Amino acid sequence: MSNLILPGLVDIHTHLRVPGGEHKEDFATGTAAALAGGITTVLAMPNTTPPLTTPAVLEETLQKAQHAIYCDVGLFAGAGPEQTDLLPKLSRYTVALKIYLNDTFGPLRVEDLPTLIACFKTWPRSKAIAIHAEGQSVAVGIGLAAAYRRPVHFCHISRKEEIEVIAAAKRQGLPVTCEVTPHHLFLTEADAERLGPLGDMRPRLATQADVETLSAHINTTIDCIATDHAPHTLAEKDADNPPPGVTGLETSLPLMLTAVKEKRLTLERLIELMATNPRRIFKLPLPPDTQVEVDAQTRYTLSNQGLQTKCGWSPFSGMAVTGRIRRVVLRGEEVFKDGQITAQLGSGKVLAEN
Ligand code: NCD
Ligand code: ZN
Repeated sequence: MSNLILPGLVDIHTHLRVPGGEHKEDFATGTAAALAGGITTVLAMPNTTPPLTTPAVLEETLQKAQHAIYCDVGLFAGAGPEQTDLLPKLSRYTVALKIYLNDTFGPLRVEDLPTLIACFKTWPRSKAIAIHAEGQSVAVGIGLAAAYRRPVHFCHISRKEEIEVIAAAKRQGLPVTCEVTPHHLFLTEADAERLGPLGDMRPRLATQADVETLSAHINTTIDCIATDHAPHTLAEKDADNPPPGVTGLETSLPLMLTAVKEKRLTLERLIELMATNPRRIFKLPLPPDTQVEVDAQTRYTLSNQGLQTKCGWSPFSGMAVTGRIRRVVLRGEEVFKDGQITAQLGSGKVLAEN
């Protein structure tokens, strides 16, 4: 029995791993995981192999996505030092630009000021720029938003000082927005120790004080909840030098519904953070006749069993939550029901030329 109807949710930070990482996730499994999590639109990150920094990789990705996705997918273009003259070309079929200022999985990185300036000058002003910035790099992003008078979105903010400097920038009227992941709201560095490689991601899990400060900003400074769904196989996580990244598409809504149950935020605020604000910031269309039906009272334990993600594990396995996703309807078609994907492959659309 479902007792709550939500709009189709948006995840603005998903790694679908196509091209080059299809053993971790592919378009079908990643978008199936999204639907299972009540998410009907995902924005796919560009740190693929090779990265999405050239028209050739964009073309390959668009072709592979056609007929292979269950939910709607928008693509991020990636910023690299050699490719800034290609950005206008890439912008036509991508929804936003991603700039990596700090270390994470994959080689995509911007570490010099000329490239950063070129990104801000050449990326169309009508489209968003999202930045992976940790620590003092957040101040660099705020400076760029001020200098070029254009919106900057900060990915996965995780520390007390980062959210505080973003709050200060917002008080000055600067056009900055930010997302926080469920793992940075629900887990701490103590969980990282318990989970080992399955609790390792960038930014790393933080202190209890960081988590409490993020929670204190959930009704004010934080604009979006985003998963940073970053699947890696268990074999990769078990090997030497395990890659950072954890899954999140299927657990994000149950965790946030649990936070609503615990009165950490209202249901109206959840909808702003997981649907309205992501759509506004990234100018994403609202699919018609689309809804997520939830049983908001069911209490159960999250498990690796039955996950749609190809890598088959979650750092939240074993955690009790309140709120189960029963059914998802996308453009009038039932696409998920009681643990099963009922959509036809190809029911999702690639968002382009918006
Ligand atoms: C991400 C990945 O695996 O692609 N890893 C991570 O720890 N978050 C990269 C990223 O989003 O920074
Ligand atoms: Zn990411």
